[in-house]
Amino acid sequence: MAPAATLSAFNTTRDGKALESLSDDIDAINVLKQQQQQQQQKENDIYTESTFDKSKDKTQFRQYETASDRVKNFYIEQHTKQTVAYNLQARNRFKATTRARMSIWEAIEKLNTLIDESDPDTSLSQIEHLLQSAEAIRRDGKPRWMQLTGLIHDLGKLLYFFDAQGQWDVVGDTFPVGCAFDSRIIYGRESFERNPDFGHPVFDNGLGIYAPGIGLENVMLSWGHDEYLYHVVKDQSTLPAEALAMIRYHSFYPWHNAGAYRELMNEKDEEMLRAVKAFNPYDLYSKSDELPKVEELRPYYEELIDEYFPVKVINW
Ligand SMILES: [Fe+2]
Ligand SMILES: [Fe+2]
Repeated sequence: MAPAATLSAFNTTRDGKALESLSDDIDAINVLKQQQQQQQQKENDIYTESTFDKSKDKTQFRQYETASDRVKNFYIEQHTKQTVAYNLQARNRFKATTRARMSIWEAIEKLNTLIDESDPDTSLSQIEHLLQSAEAIRRDGKPRWMQLTGLIHDLGKLLYFFDAQGQWDVVGDTFPVGCAFDSRIIYGRESFERNPDFGHPVFDNGLGIYAPGIGLENVMLSWGHDEYLYHVVKDQSTLPAEALAMIRYHSFYPWHNAGAYRELMNEKDEEMLRAVKAFNPYDLYSKSDELPKVEELRPYYEELIDEYFPVKVINW
């Protein structure tokens, strides 16, 4: 068996707690945005029961405000630094090196330690979030490949401890680069004003470098944990296209939640969109479920991993 990654492959000085707490705030904002959308839809129907006081829920607003200061600063940085040039460079760097060699379960444990090391009282550990997503999918009787997708969908966060530049190229909602920044991206076009591609005659103009209907497979999405894991698993697993889409697009909120970038889609993407939408609640809303018993569940999931990863030791 090939050796597991040595600790020296990881940048253990990175603050995993900060990454995770930011990541939680980002999720909180996405949850609140979806709740507001649903509320608005209800309010548009004049015959539905009044839920006036619910929509004005003060704790929700306060939560949103506290989270949003930090999250907004994060997004300004992300929207400033995710350029076409950076994305080409990140993909070249990805192809040029193998950051570590380890099994999927080792990666789950590694991510857990790296983040938990810096925060022993973190609200929910990585392993718990991954198992809760997987267990919720399993409870609902969804296919085995989807359960496995739930289990691994955030493993790309390991990138933070490899060669990421900061938090801005690991977490947060994603968006395409090389075409116009859409106003439906969180915090809108203004948040891109300092991006060198902003106002660029090609990169920030309509479909930019892409042809209509080109298919999202051919579109460069801002580099982060989704895109990284997608590249890792697409050639090393037998997971179906829907699973790869759930991994690659789970943070692509402007597309799967706000309806942007539909002009870039091809026929296959219509199905992928349905798959990603079906996956989203298991990521966002399984966090309050009861805590999973890791060691009890481990044999079930190790078998599942073996089913879709023919080679045990994965190149990361
Ligand atoms: Fe994620
Ligand atoms: Fe997640």
